[in-house]
Amino acid sequence: MSVYQATASAPVNIACIKYWGKRDTKLILPTNSSLSVTLDQDHLRSTTTSRADPSFQKDRLWLNGSEDEIKDGGRLATCIKEMKALRKQLEDKDSSLPKISGYFVHISSRNNFPTAAGLASSASGFAALVASLAALYKLPTSQSDLSRIARQGSGSACRSLFGGFVAWQMGELPDGSDSLAVEVAPREHWPDVHALICVVNDEKKGTSSTAGMQRTVDTSPLLQHRIKHVVPERMAAISEAIRARDFDAFARITMQDSNQFHAVALDTEPPIFYMNDVSRAIIALIVEYNRVAVEKTGKLKAAYTYDAGPNAVIYTPKENVKEIVELIIKYFPQAENFKDPFGLFGAAGVQGKVVDGFNGAVSKPFGVGAVKGLIHTRVGDGPRTLGAEEALLGPDGLPK
Ligand code: DP6
Repeated sequence: MSVYQATASAPVNIACIKYWGKRDTKLILPTNSSLSVTLDQDHLRSTTTSRADPSFQKDRLWLNGSEDEIKDGGRLATCIKEMKALRKQLEDKDSSLPKISGYFVHISSRNNFPTAAGLASSASGFAALVASLAALYKLPTSQSDLSRIARQGSGSACRSLFGGFVAWQMGELPDGSDSLAVEVAPREHWPDVHALICVVNDEKKGTSSTAGMQRTVDTSPLLQHRIKHVVPERMAAISEAIRARDFDAFARITMQDSNQFHAVALDTEPPIFYMNDVSRAIIALIVEYNRVAVEKTGKLKAAYTYDAGPNAVIYTPKENVKEIVELIIKYFPQAENFKDPFGLFGAAGVQGKVVDGFNGAVSKPFGVGAVKGLIHTRVGDGPRTLGAEEALLGPDGLPK
């Protein structure tokens, strides 16, 4: 008897131009276009196995080993239904294909990063779900067409269908058919872009992106200005900066857009605060680091960006990562040694020091644990189809 099963992995992406606001909450159609960098799956990824089988009684999904309910009409159910519909179209055209679109599916998904790290896993998770079902159903569908389905799982997930530098074009049609992700440039175009994720300790439960952005749409006048007069120009300018590998322009726009996203959160009623004192101190350090760089060379060397939480992501060309790790660790001592995936530091390890000319008074030093971890990664590739040896479902169709 045939086994119909496939496994795929998908990357995390972190936006430079932020998606914040929906014009259609069911189809997940955004109020503005957005643009992100896909991070390397060697360091951060979701892996998903999907199997279709006539013996299965219903669609089931496990996340990191525990079962998640697939609610009727919910986001998961929508993505699975859309993928089955694409398979059904193929089967209707070619009668030699096994009719597996009518079988229930079992899906097992895992993240290789701890959920406690506070990194958004919905983007990589829904992208891996769609990629594994596309492999299971042997769909000839393009990545952009798949991105339309991932979008209905979580908006930002549509951008994880591509590697490199990715735009989500907001589209204008009411049915969402033109709201999809496109590649601005593959990672090979600009592999020098690295990312340092500062995992900031976060005790309080924040406002979810989904709930927060709708409150912003309903109450923030600043969001209307952003949508109409700011984002369109920035999308064009940052795409140009990426094409020209102009890090200075890329960094300036990225920081401006992170700032404006947090400004519209603050402009929401009641106001939403995603950054905390540690987040703001990291901004102060990067601003001062850039001030010194501009004085010396006229160009910015690093860009911070923050999503709906206190974690910082710092984009920088590879040659600067060492200086920035030294800087962050000087102000935010670590309980554990820095994991050094690119071998930047020798046996002496990280010393904790600042560059010449740096004004050390821009921030106070914090205690151990304020930044609970640093993850060094870089721009990466799009979803990968994996071999059977990586499968997350056992022969019984349950998570291994
Ligand atoms: C701040 O994609 O998580 O990270 O579509 O409701 O699932 P839903 O929201 P989500 O929002 C991401 C918001 C952001 C900015 C971004 O990734 O562009």
